[in-house]
Amino acid sequence: MYDSIRAVQWDGGMLCLLDQRELPQQEVYRNLSDVNNVAQAIRDMVVRGAPAIGITAAYGVVIAARHRYAQDAAGWKRALEADMAVLSNARLTAVNLFWALQRMREAIAVIDTANEPTAALLAAARRIHEDDVSANRRMGELGAQLVDSPCAVITHCNTGSLATGGYGTALGVIRSAYSKNKITQVYADETRPWLQGARLTAWELVKDGIPVTLLADSAAAHLMKQGQVKWVIVGSDRIAANGDVANKIGTYNLAIAAKYHGVKFMVVAPTSTVDMSVDSGSDIPIETRSTEEVLAVQHQRIAAPGADAWNPAFDITPADLIDAIVTEKGVVAAPTADKIAAMMENDL
Ligand code: MRU
Repeated sequence: MYDSIRAVQWDGGMLCLLDQRELPQQEVYRNLSDVNNVAQAIRDMVVRGAPAIGITAAYGVVIAARHRYAQDAAGWKRALEADMAVLSNARLTAVNLFWALQRMREAIAVIDTANEPTAALLAAARRIHEDDVSANRRMGELGAQLVDSPCAVITHCNTGSLATGGYGTALGVIRSAYSKNKITQVYADETRPWLQGARLTAWELVKDGIPVTLLADSAAAHLMKQGQVKWVIVGSDRIAANGDVANKIGTYNLAIAAKYHGVKFMVVAPTSTVDMSVDSGSDIPIETRSTEEVLAVQHQRIAAPGADAWNPAFDITPADLIDAIVTEKGVVAAPTADKIAAMMENDL
């Protein structure tokens, strides 16, 4: 229930992506069978959202390996490295991309070079995909338990089925809490400049029968002041070892406003989003995207001619503004480096 959308699929030996640039106007699917097109699709945000990017890259490795083996059965592993590099350069901040490529590297390492690799690598990619959906369902349960009385919530960007293997991270918690009658109203930030909230979260929730109310990003603090919102629930592109969180630009504003108004702040992300190799948020690389995304809306110029723009795609929310980080391995309340390390050690 409340879960009907799948944006990344493997079908008939090809990768099939729901083109998120076209939503909500059109539901267009793109079939991809060339790794360069897969990297381009990630770069151009045909597919976006940290876990969905990682899953897409994993299927991209399957496509690349199949092609390299057909070209050179003895040298495919070495040749594949160039494709892995192309995929890893597609986006910068979402660590799930690098995590998924590392998982695929481990799968490649145990394949005998003489063997055609498609079946083994497809199994590895499917596992990454299925594990992500399972993690989302588990996080949905855990996060919903934190919402103790029926209330309104605010979410930012799109963290749902479109951004993951399915079900979603923050939207997974919202799906789960809504099904338990714990959510009276879902407020979604429109999420300038790319409008993931207005175009994608609103489309996804309406399609799955969950009522949604959009607001301009700048209206969130004023909404919190009204007193109905008890939780801000967001996803993440990368969580540092100390619990600092990189997420869609505007998340930090929400966290500051939430702290001021006594609204709780929940970050929901699988452990594939936790990067224990970066000590704090200041070490997380932040992608800067084209100024056109700010100067125009849907290719329609809105800014005064001659104006420049600044377009960081993500910001860092410090751990001390976060009430809970929810992963599939458990809930970390008031995150610290020690608590994150202990959570990562948990066996499922
Ligand atoms: O630039 P995007 O649309 O890829 O950014 C996506 C986000 O910031 C999401 O909040 C994040 O990836 C978590 S999605 C489960």
